[in-house]
Amino acid sequence: MRQPEMHELTVALGERAYPIRIAPGLLERREAFAGVHFSTHVLLVTDGNVGALYAERVRRLLPGSHEPALLVLPAGEQHKTLATCARIFAALADMQAGRDALVVALGGGVVGDMAGFAAACWMRGVRYLQIPTTLLAMVDSSVGGKTAVDLPQGKNLVGAFHQPCAVAIDTRLLASLPARELSAGLAEVAKYGALGDARFFAWIEDHADALVGGDAVALADAVLQSCQHKAQIVVADETEQGERALLNFGHTFAHAIETEAGYGTVLHGEAVAIGMMLAARLSSEMGLAPLMDAARLAALLERLRLPVAIPPRIAARLDPSALLARMQLDKKNRGGRLRLILWRGVGHAFVASDIDSRHVLDLLTDAIADGQA
Ligand SMILES: NC(=O)c1ccc[n+]([C@@H]2O[C@H](COP(=O)([O-])OP(=O)(O)OC[C@H]3O[C@@H](n4cnc5c(N)ncnc54)[C@H](O)[C@@H]3O)[C@@H](O)[C@H]2O)c1
Repeated sequence: MRQPEMHELTVALGERAYPIRIAPGLLERREAFAGVHFSTHVLLVTDGNVGALYAERVRRLLPGSHEPALLVLPAGEQHKTLATCARIFAALADMQAGRDALVVALGGGVVGDMAGFAAACWMRGVRYLQIPTTLLAMVDSSVGGKTAVDLPQGKNLVGAFHQPCAVAIDTRLLASLPARELSAGLAEVAKYGALGDARFFAWIEDHADALVGGDAVALADAVLQSCQHKAQIVVADETEQGERALLNFGHTFAHAIETEAGYGTVLHGEAVAIGMMLAARLSSEMGLAPLMDAARLAALLERLRLPVAIPPRIAARLDPSALLARMQLDKKNRGGRLRLILWRGVGHAFVASDIDSRHVLDLLTDAIADGQA
């Protein structure tokens, strides 16, 4: 039987260039890890859910002469902390891992961000390999080298830019992903269309039912197109001096909501959907974008089974001033001024500096009141 096609993209960062390989069943194929040196010290990091499903299988499939050590972390955003990261450092110390160690992240964005951060810090930087298992991680977090942990004060506040040595995406792993997590990943897929590619946005509209229904072909196509977008933006602006900031469309609102609601209460992708709607609404209120485009975004997100407003159970816990204060701690701000990613309509996001915080406060007040209504 013919093997399904494998797609290989390159994140062309000179000496740190790395491949993103995508195929259903990829992990069973030798090419999956081509060019990656499996040293004596390999630490496979995963979480409890993914570990129970895939850890032993992946451990057997990884090449190399030594069996990798396995570290299973608790699942969920509430565990993306320095304390959990310290467990990765302890595991590396226990196995006497040196500068040639390889950390393998098998999981969603939470595992990937933490394992990547630990790899960035261990002995001032060792290699890590991403094996993403959620749609969100396949289309976004496993590519681009942003690694971080959350603090009680805010999301991803402690982190580093540290690129993986390869990304191996086996889209078959999506078969076990709960529907709500699949939708959360689709929020980041929709984001690429919304921020910079009206054609891709229309493609997602055309395939929304297939995507949300878990159609393997549509999902693999969405992963490929999203990775192409992400790789291109990362190569143009690795450390987010300009264009890469656009990937944060909706994220300043999202991070504030996630932190204030309590990590893990709203999924990251769900918060991004709500955040994109708030950014689109603010853009329309400021006369920057047609209201029709916000309605088009809402219609798509709803078809992807994502929230487009703050859900009542969350709204009841939120205070607009507290949310604004969280937004003011965002990494995009400069000189204490609020910077947000807004848009001029589908496919046209831009960095808006010097936003009047009173305007944002009014928007948040309305959004919370709407959620409670
Ligand atoms: N580094 C970046 O550039 C970047 C980009 C976007 C998001 N992120 C981060 O990613 C995180 C969110 O990632 P996420 O949505 O993948 O969440 P997650 O890692 O918490 O995974 C979601 C849930 O799905 C389970 N799971 C994972 N794969 C599974 C599978 N194949 N089958 C069954 N269950 C599975 C996990 O155990 C977990 O319970 C956030 O912390 C966010 O800040 C980082």
